[in-house]
Amino acid sequence: MKSDIKCTINDQPRTLHAYPMERLLDVLREQLRLTGTKEGCGEGECGACSVVLDGELVNSCLVPACQADGASVLTVEGLAAQGKLGEELAPVQKCFLEHGAAQCGICTPGMLVAARCFLDARTPATDEAVREALAGNLCRCTGYQKIIEAVQLAASVKAKEAAP
Ligand code: FES
Ligand code: FES
Repeated sequence: MKSDIKCTINDQPRTLHAYPMERLLDVLREQLRLTGTKEGCGEGECGACSVVLDGELVNSCLVPACQADGASVLTVEGLAAQGKLGEELAPVQKCFLEHGAAQCGICTPGMLVAARCFLDARTPATDEAVREALAGNLCRCTGYQKIIEAVQLAASVKAKEAAP
C-alpha cells in the first residue's frame, strides 16, 4: 500500500505517495517530474541519479522513497535560483557551461549535485579532493579534467563571494 511521505524538495514542502520500497529516483522523476535526475546503471555505480539527502550525497536509485520522510532533498533543479530575469544558473552550473565540462550531458546533473555537495563542505579544491568528491560519478565523454577544473573555478568564485 502507498503511504504519504512528507519532505522538503528543493526548499518546497512536498507530500509524496509511494510504496514502501519504491525508489526515490522514480518518485522524483515520475511523480514530481523532476527529470533532471537521471538513471544510468540503476545499481549505485554511475552517480547519474545523485541527489543530496539531508546534506549527504546519495544515489537515489538505491534509496527507498520512504527514507526521505521528514528529510530535505536537493535535486539538480534546486541549484538554479530565481533571479530578476527568471531562473538564474548557480555559479557551479555557469562554470560547467563556460568551461566545457558537459558533452553528452547524461552525467552532468549528478556531477553538478556532487559538486554542490563538495563546495558546501568548503574543502580546499585540490585536484585530489575534487576527484575524490566526484569519485562516485562516472563520465564517458570528458575525461574528467574539464569537470575538475570547472569545480575548482566554482570554488574560487565562491571564495571570492565570501571574501569581506
Ligand atoms: Fe543510480 Fe547509476 S543510476 S548510480
Ligand atoms: Fe557524457 Fe559525462 S558528458 S557522460
